[in-house]
Amino acid sequence: MKIVGISGSPRAKGNTEILVQEALRAASELGAKTELIALSGKKIKPCTGCGACRTDKSKGICAIKDDDVPRIYEALKEADGIIVGSPVYFLSVTAQLKALFDRSVILRYAEGTPQDRPGVPGGPEFLLKNKVGGAIAVGGGRDGGQLFTINSILQWMLMQNMIVVGNNYGLGGSAKAGMKGDALNDEIGLAMARHVGLRVTEVAGKIKG
Ligand SMILES: Cc1cc2nc3c(=O)[nH]c(=O)nc-3n(C[C@H](O)[C@H](O)[C@H](O)COP(=O)(O)O)c2cc1C
Repeated sequence: MKIVGISGSPRAKGNTEILVQEALRAASELGAKTELIALSGKKIKPCTGCGACRTDKSKGICAIKDDDVPRIYEALKEADGIIVGSPVYFLSVTAQLKALFDRSVILRYAEGTPQDRPGVPGGPEFLLKNKVGGAIAVGGGRDGGQLFTINSILQWMLMQNMIVVGNNYGLGGSAKAGMKGDALNDEIGLAMARHVGLRVTEVAGKIKG
């Protein structure tokens, strides 16, 4: 079983990475293989809405080829569970993560007949369908928009026909940390992130049988 964690922060080795790593550590303790993908330093171009990915000829193929997005999607396609973490940026996810979410429209345009969505282009099987997803957010404020950010992540997962889980605390991992490394001092934030890792792995294991 493979669990992939994405850190949506443009800041390398910051709080989001610490928390996603904590979740992945819990996953590996349950026997999962894990991979961390940090968006920091990666080139992620935004969707231009060109529509090339929707034509019959190029369904599911993005016109943008010169960035890191294709490789990230390959890792997601191989995963049984996906944990996405983001810093709160103005009450939502980072621009980098939103661009990754928008570009993932191609993961909804697999080959096939759109039997389950009459009139809508795309295939019956979304490529991330039935993968298990969990969310983590970290903000500098105590109530700085972590829940809005978690919601954005979970809503993206639902749009991909993924199965979302929360944790023993609520809808996902929520931490308060401002300066780089502060997340290490947020005991509850770390525990919440850890529990997201456990839930994603537990449910992914049940689905995989
Ligand atoms: C552009 C920007 C916007 C931010 N907006 C918020 C916010 O709305 N709420 C909040 O609590 N923290 C906000 N922060 C603080 C970050 O969420 C916080 O520093 C977080 O720990 C950064 O995570 P990182 O170390 O993984 O980059 C913002 C930071 C930046 C740079």
